[in-house]
Amino acid sequence: MTKDIDIKRLREDALKSIKAAADAASLESLRVKFLGRKEGELTKILRSLKDFSIAEKKKIGPLANALRQEIESALSEKLKSLQAASHKLQADIDLTRPGRKVQRGSLHPLTSVEKEIREIFKSLNFSVVEGPEAESDYYNFDALNIPKDHPARDMWDTFWLRQNDGRTKEQKNKRTKRQGGGERLLLRTHTSPVQVRYMEQHKPPFQIIVPGRVFRYEATDASHETNFHQVEGLMVGKDANLANFKFVIREFFQRLFKRKLSIRLRPSYFPFVEPGLEVDIQCVKCGGNGCNICKNSGWLEVMGAGMVHPRVFEAAGYNPRDLQGFAFGLGLERIAMIKYNIPDIRLFYSGDLRFIKQF
Ligand code: DAH
Repeated sequence: MTKDIDIKRLREDALKSIKAAADAASLESLRVKFLGRKEGELTKILRSLKDFSIAEKKKIGPLANALRQEIESALSEKLKSLQAASHKLQADIDLTRPGRKVQRGSLHPLTSVEKEIREIFKSLNFSVVEGPEAESDYYNFDALNIPKDHPARDMWDTFWLRQNDGRTKEQKNKRTKRQGGGERLLLRTHTSPVQVRYMEQHKPPFQIIVPGRVFRYEATDASHETNFHQVEGLMVGKDANLANFKFVIREFFQRLFKRKLSIRLRPSYFPFVEPGLEVDIQCVKCGGNGCNICKNSGWLEVMGAGMVHPRVFEAAGYNPRDLQGFAFGLGLERIAMIKYNIPDIRLFYSGDLRFIKQF
């Protein structure tokens, strides 16, 4: 008989869809689909019973009624189990639990040391000045009394920049020679070129520091990087002298390391100063008794310095007879390494969170 086959198929269809229903709303639409008063599939069968023979009615009637009950109870069972599952889900969320802590970043040790240095010098009435990282041959060397082909250039292993301006090699060489050079670009090897850039634009007296990134074409090891940072200092006036320098720099280091300490000046050579100096501070770890940090000398070498060379004043358009001043340059990484007892310069640029998170 076709009708009991229909009922069988309807039963399979209904029970399967009810079982698969994901929420109360889809259960409701299944109820309408099968049992809906007007268009329900089972309702239609029940309604058509009146047209059947008695024998058919007797056979199909009970089957259809039984299926109606079966569908109703399947719907309510499923509804109950869906409700239970959602209650369980809610119970699993503990609304009283504290939220997850937001992870706060912190400043890179180089950033915070640089900030501190800026603050100290600003409080000593120094201005903070910056200059370009891609620098000309002229400002990085010539203007600082380091002429082309002078062996002093070997003190700075340089990254030269190839300029693609459409000129041939011959054209470039020709022009370079005629103009006495100067337009070749490089990655600045120190922050000293900003001395001349600043002096060209300003009248003394003044005192500035120049923090910034510098580059050296060098092999890396625990104390050398191809990329690092310096802070340059320059004070120019009628009578800015070495005694002033000694005071400023000792004051600076004492504030930075938050303790009293001695400094020591040793003769040295840098083409842009005369006399040139190397500055040592009393070892901040052992206080001068000798330890592994100062290699048992009691002193830490921390900066180069000196009295500005007359040729540098001339390059900036000053008359060296009217003026004098001191200059210094320190490595930011070296200072941070001493301050935080960091053993290897490469750690600063390693991106290793275990290192960074300690600051
Ligand atoms: N520019 C030097 C360097 O990179 C450091 C330095 C030495 C800067 C002496 C100065 C100075 O201003 O007077 O090695």
